[in-house]
Amino acid sequence: MEKGGRGGEVFLRKLEDLTMRLEKRFGDLRGKMEMVPSPEAPLEDIGGLGAAKREIQGLSFALRNPELHQRWGTTPPKGILLYGPPGTGKTLLAKALASLAQTVFYHLRIPNIISKWHADSGEVIQEVFALVKEAGRGILFLDEVDALALDRGSEETRGASRRLVNTILENLDELKAYDQILVVASTNRPDAVDPALISPGRIDRLIEVPLPGSEDKRQILEIHQRKAERIAGRRLFQGLDYDSILARTVKMTGSDLAEVIRRTLEEKVRLEGSGGPAELVTTEDILREIENYRRIKEVVEKIRYGQYL
Ligand SMILES: Nc1ncnc2c1ncn2[C@@H]1O[C@H](COP(=O)(O)OP(=O)(O)O)[C@@H](O)[C@H]1O
Ligand SMILES: [Mg+2]
Repeated sequence: MEKGGRGGEVFLRKLEDLTMRLEKRFGDLRGKMEMVPSPEAPLEDIGGLGAAKREIQGLSFALRNPELHQRWGTTPPKGILLYGPPGTGKTLLAKALASLAQTVFYHLRIPNIISKWHADSGEVIQEVFALVKEAGRGILFLDEVDALALDRGSEETRGASRRLVNTILENLDELKAYDQILVVASTNRPDAVDPALISPGRIDRLIEVPLPGSEDKRQILEIHQRKAERIAGRRLFQGLDYDSILARTVKMTGSDLAEVIRRTLEEKVRLEGSGGPAELVTTEDILREIENYRRIKEVVEKIRYGQYL
């Protein structure tokens, strides 16, 4: 979207109108859906995931220049599925795609939409699809799309899910005519995703988002350190002994590592606030937070992902 142009302004107003209309009818949208006109989410802020990032980059070229596919006698995918464990960067990738394609990011958190709107969910989603089609461009992110699984919840929930799936299927089929709209779905339970969604011509490109390996984790740690240092405008970390840190991060995800860095810095805030020494973060500081985090992680996961793990 041209940020400054008149077309951009008109569209922004439409986006606000729709948000207001939906909120008037259905209540607060926060936590259920977000619409970000042109998100700032560089691919470089994502550690590891080389293969997935290459695919995202390729898809962004196609969204910006739809004629590229035509030139090579083929058509772009209409929908992709990002699948992998929780906290590995699926949402980051979807947002990075919208950022690279300079397009609107419609973030629909499917479980929250269903639990809030039950039978009305289909209508809410229909309104969003209508706007996306009117705009003619955008990334429609169906986050945690496995929540549409029909074998879960009460009869009412299942009925609502059925209607919601049908709405999404109909819209996916209509989207064939739009070469600058892409549906991106995510799941940490690919086995539970409705197979009708993952059929040819619909969401037919699957991209794995695996747990990070050692080198990936090192990149992720550095990314989050650099982010904090950028915000603080100064150096915050000593040279770290990554070998001993990484040895303690078995099975950790990007989200875990980000949380460890956040907790390490929070401890510094606490120390300085209570008049303690304000020294740079050391390897030992991080190792200590990793141990603390490991102890509470199980509880955090149960709360965050409920029955998923
Ligand atoms: N590969 C990664 N590189 C950098 N940070 C990551 C990565 N994966 C996860 N994170 C951190 O964890 C947070 C949650 O990641 P997210 O993309 O929401 O995971 P998912 O959608 O796969 O559950 C991100 O906001 C980021 O801080
Ligand atoms: Mg996510």
